[in-house]
Amino acid sequence: MRHLLSPLDLSVEETNELLDLARDISKNPDKYSHKCEGKKIATCFYEPSTRTRLSFESAMLNLGGSVIGFSSANSSSASKGESVSDTIRVISCFADICAMRHPKEGAPMVAASKSSIPVINAGDGGHQHPTQTLTDLMTIRELRGSLDNFTIGLCGDLKFGRTVHSLIKELSRYTGIKFVLISPPELRVPDVIRDETLKANNIEFTEVERLEDVIPELDILYMTRVQKERFFNEEDYLRMKDFYILDAAKMAMAKPDMYVLHPLPRVNEISTEVDDDPRAAYFKQVQYGVYVRMALILTLLGLN
Ligand code: NCD
Repeated sequence: MRHLLSPLDLSVEETNELLDLARDISKNPDKYSHKCEGKKIATCFYEPSTRTRLSFESAMLNLGGSVIGFSSANSSSASKGESVSDTIRVISCFADICAMRHPKEGAPMVAASKSSIPVINAGDGGHQHPTQTLTDLMTIRELRGSLDNFTIGLCGDLKFGRTVHSLIKELSRYTGIKFVLISPPELRVPDVIRDETLKANNIEFTEVERLEDVIPELDILYMTRVQKERFFNEEDYLRMKDFYILDAAKMAMAKPDMYVLHPLPRVNEISTEVDDDPRAAYFKQVQYGVYVRMALILTLLGLN
Protein backbone atom coordinates (compact mmCIF):
# COMPACT_ATOMS: atom_id res chain seq x y z
CA MET A 1 0.00 0.00 0.00
CA ARG A 2 1.30 3.48 -0.93
CA HIS A 3 0.68 6.86 0.68
CA LEU A 4 1.59 10.35 -0.56
CA LEU A 5 2.97 12.33 2.37
CA SER A 6 5.82 14.19 0.66
CA PRO A 7 6.37 14.85 -3.06
CA LEU A 8 9.48 12.66 -2.78
CA ASP A 9 7.33 9.59 -2.04
CA LEU A 10 7.02 9.25 -5.82
CA SER A 11 10.23 8.81 -7.82
CA VAL A 12 10.88 11.22 -10.71
CA GLU A 13 9.92 8.42 -13.09
CA GLU A 14 6.65 7.72 -11.24
CA THR A 15 5.92 11.45 -11.11
CA ASN A 16 6.39 11.75 -14.87
CA GLU A 17 4.13 8.73 -15.44
CA LEU A 18 1.50 10.33 -13.20
CA LEU A 19 1.75 13.58 -15.19
CA ASP A 20 1.39 11.63 -18.46
CA LEU A 21 -1.72 9.95 -17.04
CA ALA A 22 -3.09 13.34 -15.93
CA ARG A 23 -2.55 14.65 -19.46
CA ASP A 24 -4.36 11.65 -20.98
CA ILE A 25 -7.24 12.18 -18.53
CA SER A 26 -7.48 15.84 -19.61
CA LYS A 27 -7.66 14.80 -23.27
CA ASN A 28 -9.94 11.73 -22.89
CA PRO A 29 -12.04 12.19 -19.73
CA ASP A 30 -14.70 9.67 -20.86
CA LYS A 31 -12.15 6.86 -20.85
CA TYR A 32 -11.81 7.28 -17.08
CA SER A 33 -15.35 8.08 -16.02
CA HIS A 34 -16.13 4.60 -14.60
CA LYS A 35 -12.68 3.61 -13.30
CA CYS A 36 -13.54 4.13 -9.63
CA GLU A 37 -17.09 2.83 -9.57
CA GLY A 38 -17.79 1.39 -6.12
CA LYS A 39 -14.82 3.24 -4.57
CA LYS A 40 -15.01 5.99 -1.95
CA ILE A 41 -12.68 8.77 -0.98
CA ALA A 42 -12.83 10.27 2.53
CA THR A 43 -11.79 13.92 2.66
CA CYS A 44 -10.79 14.62 6.28
CA PHE A 45 -10.10 18.34 6.54
CA TYR A 46 -9.20 19.76 9.95
CA GLU A 47 -8.29 23.13 8.34
CA PRO A 48 -10.14 25.39 5.87
CA SER A 49 -9.93 24.62 2.16
CA THR A 50 -11.81 25.40 -1.02
CA ARG A 51 -9.72 24.12 -3.95
CA THR A 52 -7.93 21.16 -2.45
CA ARG A 53 -10.96 19.51 -0.84
CA LEU A 54 -13.35 20.20 -3.67
CA SER A 55 -10.82 19.16 -6.30
CA PHE A 56 -10.31 15.81 -4.54
CA GLU A 57 -14.07 15.35 -4.37
CA SER A 58 -14.53 16.43 -7.97
CA ALA A 59 -11.67 14.12 -9.04
CA MET A 60 -13.32 11.09 -7.40
CA LEU A 61 -16.76 11.96 -8.80
CA ASN A 62 -15.22 12.34 -12.31
CA LEU A 63 -13.86 8.80 -11.92
CA GLY A 64 -17.32 7.43 -11.08
CA GLY A 65 -16.59 7.00 -7.36
CA SER A 66 -18.18 8.65 -4.35
CA VAL A 67 -17.19 10.92 -1.50
CA ILE A 68 -17.57 11.08 2.28
CA GLY A 69 -15.84 13.35 4.77
CA PHE A 70 -15.78 16.43 6.94
CA SER A 71 -14.58 19.96 6.23
CA SER A 72 -13.61 21.23 9.67
CA ALA A 73 -12.27 19.85 12.94
CA ASN A 74 -15.40 21.22 14.67
CA SER A 75 -17.67 18.95 12.68
CA SER A 76 -15.61 15.81 13.45
CA SER A 77 -14.93 13.87 16.65
CA ALA A 78 -11.63 15.76 16.95
CA SER A 79 -13.76 18.30 18.83
CA LYS A 80 -14.51 15.53 21.38
CA GLY A 81 -10.80 14.78 21.72
CA GLU A 82 -10.39 11.84 19.33
CA SER A 83 -6.82 11.32 18.05
CA VAL A 84 -5.91 11.27 14.36
CA SER A 85 -4.72 7.65 14.84
CA ASP A 86 -8.15 6.55 16.05
CA THR A 87 -10.01 8.57 13.42
CA ILE A 88 -8.06 6.99 10.54
CA ARG A 89 -8.70 3.47 11.87
CA VAL A 90 -12.40 4.30 11.75
CA ILE A 91 -12.23 5.94 8.31
CA SER A 92 -10.40 2.84 7.01
CA CYS A 93 -13.65 0.91 7.62
CA PHE A 94 -15.66 3.35 5.49
CA ALA A 95 -13.50 4.41 2.55
CA ASP A 96 -10.89 3.11 0.09
CA ILE A 97 -8.58 6.16 0.19
CA CYS A 98 -8.27 9.26 2.38
CA ALA A 99 -7.11 12.83 1.72
CA MET A 100 -6.23 14.58 4.98
CA ARG A 101 -5.45 18.23 5.78
CA HIS A 102 -4.34 19.12 9.30
CA PRO A 103 -2.86 22.19 11.02
CA LYS A 104 -0.25 20.00 12.78
CA GLU A 105 2.87 19.14 10.84
CA GLY A 106 3.21 15.37 10.47
CA ALA A 107 -0.43 14.51 11.32
CA PRO A 108 -1.07 12.75 7.96
CA MET A 109 2.13 10.75 8.57
CA VAL A 110 0.82 9.60 11.95
CA ALA A 111 -2.47 8.69 10.28
CA ALA A 112 -0.67 6.73 7.54
CA SER A 113 1.16 4.64 10.11
CA LYS A 114 -2.17 3.39 11.51
CA SER A 115 -4.16 3.29 8.29
CA SER A 116 -5.21 0.32 6.21
CA ILE A 117 -6.04 2.58 3.22
CA PRO A 118 -3.77 4.99 1.26
CA VAL A 119 -3.45 8.40 2.93
CA ILE A 120 -2.76 11.55 0.91
CA ASN A 121 -1.32 14.59 2.67
CA ALA A 122 -3.54 17.46 1.56
CA GLY A 123 -1.45 19.99 3.53
CA ASP A 124 0.04 19.65 7.04
CA GLY A 125 0.67 22.94 8.84
CA GLY A 126 3.56 24.90 7.33
CA HIS A 127 5.27 21.68 6.24
CA GLN A 128 4.28 20.03 2.92
CA HIS A 129 1.55 20.05 0.28
CA PRO A 130 2.49 17.36 -2.25
CA THR A 131 -0.69 17.43 -4.37
CA GLN A 132 -0.32 21.18 -4.92
CA THR A 133 3.19 20.38 -6.13
CA LEU A 134 1.87 17.82 -8.63
CA THR A 135 -0.57 20.52 -9.78
CA ASP A 136 2.28 23.03 -10.14
CA LEU A 137 4.39 20.51 -12.08
CA MET A 138 1.59 19.73 -14.51
CA THR A 139 1.01 23.45 -15.03
CA ILE A 140 4.69 24.15 -15.73
CA ARG A 141 5.02 21.12 -18.01
CA GLU A 142 1.90 21.92 -20.01
CA LEU A 143 2.90 25.58 -20.43
CA ARG A 144 6.63 25.17 -21.07
CA GLY A 145 6.74 21.65 -22.49
CA SER A 146 9.38 20.44 -20.01
CA LEU A 147 10.38 20.43 -16.35
CA ASP A 148 14.06 21.14 -16.97
CA ASN A 149 16.14 24.29 -17.58
CA PHE A 150 14.25 27.29 -16.29
CA THR A 151 14.50 30.04 -13.69
CA ILE A 152 11.71 30.13 -11.12
CA GLY A 153 11.07 33.01 -8.75
CA LEU A 154 9.20 32.07 -5.58
CA CYS A 155 7.79 35.21 -4.03
CA GLY A 156 6.07 36.03 -0.72
CA ASP A 157 5.83 33.89 2.39
CA LEU A 158 8.61 31.36 1.87
CA LYS A 159 8.80 30.63 5.59
CA PHE A 160 5.32 29.33 6.30
CA GLY A 161 4.19 28.50 2.73
CA ARG A 162 4.00 24.71 2.54
CA THR A 163 3.42 24.78 -1.23
CA VAL A 164 6.82 26.50 -1.61
CA HIS A 165 8.59 23.92 0.55
CA SER A 166 7.17 21.00 -1.41
CA LEU A 167 7.82 22.63 -4.79
CA ILE A 168 11.48 23.37 -3.99
CA LYS A 169 12.00 19.76 -2.83
CA GLU A 170 10.41 18.40 -5.98
CA LEU A 171 12.10 20.71 -8.51
CA SER A 172 15.50 20.04 -6.95
CA ARG A 173 15.27 16.61 -8.64
CA TYR A 174 15.13 18.09 -12.16
CA THR A 175 18.07 19.57 -14.08
CA GLY A 176 19.04 23.13 -14.87
CA ILE A 177 16.58 24.80 -12.48
CA LYS A 178 17.63 28.07 -10.92
CA PHE A 179 15.71 29.36 -7.89
CA VAL A 180 15.26 33.03 -7.08
CA LEU A 181 13.81 33.27 -3.56
CA ILE A 182 12.03 36.60 -3.13
CA SER A 183 10.85 37.48 0.36
CA PRO A 184 11.14 39.98 3.18
CA PRO A 185 13.99 38.94 5.53
CA GLU A 186 11.48 37.69 8.14
CA LEU A 187 9.81 35.31 5.67
CA ARG A 188 12.81 33.59 4.09
CA VAL A 189 12.79 29.84 3.43
CA PRO A 190 13.50 27.74 6.54
CA ASP A 191 17.17 26.81 7.08
CA VAL A 192 16.35 23.14 6.62
CA ILE A 193 15.20 23.74 3.01
CA ARG A 194 18.16 26.02 2.22
CA ASP A 195 20.73 23.62 3.74
CA GLU A 196 19.36 20.13 3.20
CA THR A 197 17.69 20.62 -0.18
CA LEU A 198 19.32 23.52 -2.03
CA LYS A 199 22.90 23.61 -0.71
CA ALA A 200 23.19 19.85 -0.23
CA ASN A 201 22.29 19.25 -3.89
CA ASN A 202 24.45 22.12 -5.23
CA ILE A 203 21.42 23.88 -6.68
CA GLU A 204 21.81 27.42 -7.93
CA PHE A 205 19.74 29.87 -5.86
CA THR A 206 19.70 33.50 -4.78
CA GLU A 207 17.74 35.23 -2.02
CA VAL A 208 16.50 38.75 -2.70
CA GLU A 209 14.00 41.20 -1.28
CA ARG A 210 12.79 43.21 -4.28
CA LEU A 211 10.66 41.56 -6.97
CA GLU A 212 11.37 44.43 -9.41
CA ASP A 213 15.11 43.67 -9.37
CA VAL A 214 14.73 40.09 -10.61
CA ILE A 215 11.44 39.85 -12.51
CA PRO A 216 13.10 40.33 -15.96
CA GLU A 217 15.16 37.14 -15.55
CA LEU A 218 12.31 34.78 -14.54
CA ASP A 219 10.61 32.08 -16.66
CA ILE A 220 8.08 31.25 -13.94
CA LEU A 221 6.91 33.53 -11.13
CA TYR A 222 5.27 31.61 -8.27
CA MET A 223 3.40 34.11 -6.08
CA THR A 224 2.17 33.15 -2.60
CA ARG A 225 -0.11 34.52 0.09
CA VAL A 226 1.29 35.63 3.45
CA GLN A 227 0.07 32.78 5.69
CA LYS A 228 -1.92 34.75 8.24
CA GLU A 229 -2.97 31.68 10.24
CA ARG A 230 0.65 30.73 11.01
CA PHE A 231 1.71 34.10 12.47
CA PHE A 232 2.16 34.44 16.20
CA ASN A 233 1.02 38.03 16.29
CA GLU A 234 -1.35 40.15 14.21
CA GLU A 235 1.07 43.10 14.09
CA ASP A 236 3.75 41.15 12.17
CA TYR A 237 1.13 39.88 9.74
CA LEU A 238 -0.21 43.38 9.08
CA ARG A 239 3.32 44.66 8.43
CA MET A 240 4.06 41.88 5.96
CA LYS A 241 0.77 41.25 4.20
CA ASP A 242 1.09 43.77 1.37
CA PHE A 243 4.85 43.53 0.95
CA TYR A 244 4.43 42.31 -2.66
CA ILE A 245 1.76 43.30 -5.12
CA LEU A 246 2.18 42.05 -8.66
CA ASP A 247 0.53 44.54 -11.03
CA ALA A 248 0.53 45.41 -14.73
CA ALA A 249 3.54 47.71 -14.33
CA LYS A 250 5.66 44.88 -12.93
CA MET A 251 4.36 42.45 -15.58
CA ALA A 252 5.59 44.92 -18.22
CA MET A 253 9.15 44.31 -16.96
CA ALA A 254 8.86 40.52 -17.30
CA LYS A 255 9.65 38.23 -20.25
CA PRO A 256 6.82 37.87 -22.78
CA ASP A 257 6.58 34.18 -21.86
CA MET A 258 7.01 34.41 -18.06
CA TYR A 259 4.05 32.52 -16.60
CA VAL A 260 2.55 33.52 -13.25
CA LEU A 261 1.44 30.70 -10.94
CA HIS A 262 -0.22 30.95 -7.52
CA PRO A 263 -1.62 28.07 -5.44
CA LEU A 264 -4.52 30.37 -4.45
CA PRO A 265 -6.32 31.75 -2.49
CA ARG A 266 -5.04 35.16 -3.52
CA VAL A 267 -5.44 38.08 -1.14
CA ASN A 268 -3.70 41.28 -2.37
CA GLU A 269 -0.47 39.89 -3.80
CA ILE A 270 -1.69 39.79 -7.40
CA SER A 271 -3.72 42.75 -8.58
CA THR A 272 -6.85 41.67 -10.47
CA GLU A 273 -5.64 43.69 -13.48
CA VAL A 274 -3.10 40.88 -14.08
CA ASP A 275 -5.87 38.28 -14.50
CA ASP A 276 -6.43 39.12 -18.18
CA ASP A 277 -2.73 38.94 -19.03
CA PRO A 278 -2.18 35.77 -21.14
CA ARG A 279 0.77 34.93 -18.86
CA ALA A 280 -1.51 34.63 -15.79
CA ALA A 281 -1.81 30.86 -15.32
CA TYR A 282 -3.30 30.57 -11.82
CA PHE A 283 -6.85 29.71 -12.80
CA LYS A 284 -5.65 27.19 -15.42
CA GLN A 285 -3.57 25.70 -12.59
CA VAL A 286 -6.77 24.93 -10.63
CA GLN A 287 -8.12 22.87 -13.56
CA TYR A 288 -4.85 20.91 -13.79
CA GLY A 289 -5.24 20.20 -10.06
CA VAL A 290 -8.31 18.08 -10.75
CA TYR A 291 -6.52 16.02 -13.44
CA VAL A 292 -3.48 15.30 -11.27
CA ARG A 293 -5.69 14.27 -8.34
CA MET A 294 -7.62 11.92 -10.64
CA ALA A 295 -4.29 10.43 -11.77
CA LEU A 296 -3.10 10.16 -8.15
CA ILE A 297 -6.26 8.39 -6.95
CA LEU A 298 -5.96 5.88 -9.82
CA THR A 299 -2.26 5.35 -9.09
CA LEU A 300 -2.63 4.83 -5.33
CA LEU A 301 -5.60 2.50 -5.83
CA GLY A 302 -3.65 0.52 -8.46
CA LEU A 303 -6.30 1.25 -11.10
CA ASN A 304 -4.05 3.12 -13.59
C1 NCD B 1 -2.46 26.58 -0.32
C2 NCD B 1 -2.39 25.86 1.03
O1 NCD B 1 -3.42 25.44 1.57
O2 NCD B 1 -1.26 25.71 1.48
N1 NCD B 1 -3.75 26.53 -0.86
C3 NCD B 1 -4.08 25.48 -1.66
O3 NCD B 1 -4.18 24.36 -1.21
N2 NCD B 1 -4.23 25.70 -2.97
C4 NCD B 1 -1.90 27.94 -0.29
C5 NCD B 1 -2.45 28.94 0.69
O4 NCD B 1 -3.36 28.64 1.47
O5 NCD B 1 -1.97 30.06 0.66
